[in-house]
Amino acid sequence: MVQRVGRIDPATFIGPGKLSELAEAIPEQQVNMVIFDDELSPRHQRELEKVFGENIQVLDRSALILDIFAQHAQTREGALQVELAQYEYRLPRLTRQWTHLARQAGGGAARGGAGGVGLRGPGETQLEVDRREIRRRVARLKQELESVRAHRQRHRAQRQRAGLPTVALVGYTNAGKSTLLNALSGADVYVADQLFATLDPTVRRIRLPSGRAALLSDTVGFIQKLPVTLVAAFRATLEEVVEADLLLHVVDASHPRAWDQIDIVEDTLAEIDADRVPKILVLNKIDRGEPPQPEEDFRALGYQEIVRISALHGTGLDDLLAAIDRARFALMIDIDLLIPYNQGELLAEIHEVGTVEREAHQAEGVQVKAAVPVWLAGRLEQLLGLRDDEEQETE
Ligand code: GTP
Repeated sequence: MVQRVGRIDPATFIGPGKLSELAEAIPEQQVNMVIFDDELSPRHQRELEKVFGENIQVLDRSALILDIFAQHAQTREGALQVELAQYEYRLPRLTRQWTHLARQAGGGAARGGAGGVGLRGPGETQLEVDRREIRRRVARLKQELESVRAHRQRHRAQRQRAGLPTVALVGYTNAGKSTLLNALSGADVYVADQLFATLDPTVRRIRLPSGRAALLSDTVGFIQKLPVTLVAAFRATLEEVVEADLLLHVVDASHPRAWDQIDIVEDTLAEIDADRVPKILVLNKIDRGEPPQPEEDFRALGYQEIVRISALHGTGLDDLLAAIDRARFALMIDIDLLIPYNQGELLAEIHEVGTVEREAHQAEGVQVKAAVPVWLAGRLEQLLGLRDDEEQETE
């Protein structure tokens, strides 16, 4: 059902006329769940549940997105994040008993339901017991998340020490990111290298035409009208995006609203301060038709390259890999650093990907002046202790 409303009804969100129409349709069409494609306040939700009756679940956009995320969460951190966001979302909306909440919750939260209802203290209502129980779980989830994050931070450092630049896939949900990740890594013999695959299933190693390797990581799909609290919940995962050396913005070019979706992703990138990371626009699903807009518009958005592909059919993947190679080495900056003798591998890397202008052997190490790719410069600073990345993690 669609309704244009001039003013949101403070009690029931939609106006009384539409509400009774909806209430009549529910038994007629044997509906058991009503989903609003918008955000409902806790009050809206309560009032609507009163009108529709006990057996009808009322979900809003955020709750639905959370449930979908819960089903798709692949990593442990992802699952914890979603579970936490679900509890935080439901706390102010809690009107019925825990059993109801456990039933409604998606994958993660339902698992927690087994712990059961806490004992009711003197004068405490069931609702208060439930709230107390949820707060306790929220606190425990936050603790767990903390330790998972520390773990991931170590992985990231480990990956960086491996000396491989990271390329992150971003894009509106359903754009084809996972398909592309599989297509690119599946075509590579190094997929047998399971090191990162086992640590984190969403990071794969790919081989570029230049012979160099890079790590490709998948991220959560961006969605329009994603509530701010959810963006906050996924901030940690999105750190992978902020810290990437290159972004591949994957677009479903066959979607009628592809341009709106690009805007939404751009806004989200700006929100998480990732709008300065170099990026390539990847127009996917070209097997289903060409996007109507001229290329100049993409350039205006700051993309270095535009590549047309079909991840599903494997079209254009070579072009994309070549573009990644170019982009990765496009931005060179000057460095003048002292590399200690015990870090000789760094010097080798500078020689491999950079242009060395001058080298002087000194007592403590080699003073080297060179032009190197931005990603390597950042890594050198960090490894040589010129920049402290740990600080960014603490809030
Ligand atoms: P989220 O996980 O929701 O962010 O989605 P995603 O961006 O990872 O998309 P995914 O790879 O799951 O693909 C979404 C759908 O698009 C799947 O049904 C794919 O088979 C389909 N798809 C992906 N690439 C192409 C393509 O090049 N052409 C066509 N026709 N379909 C594609």
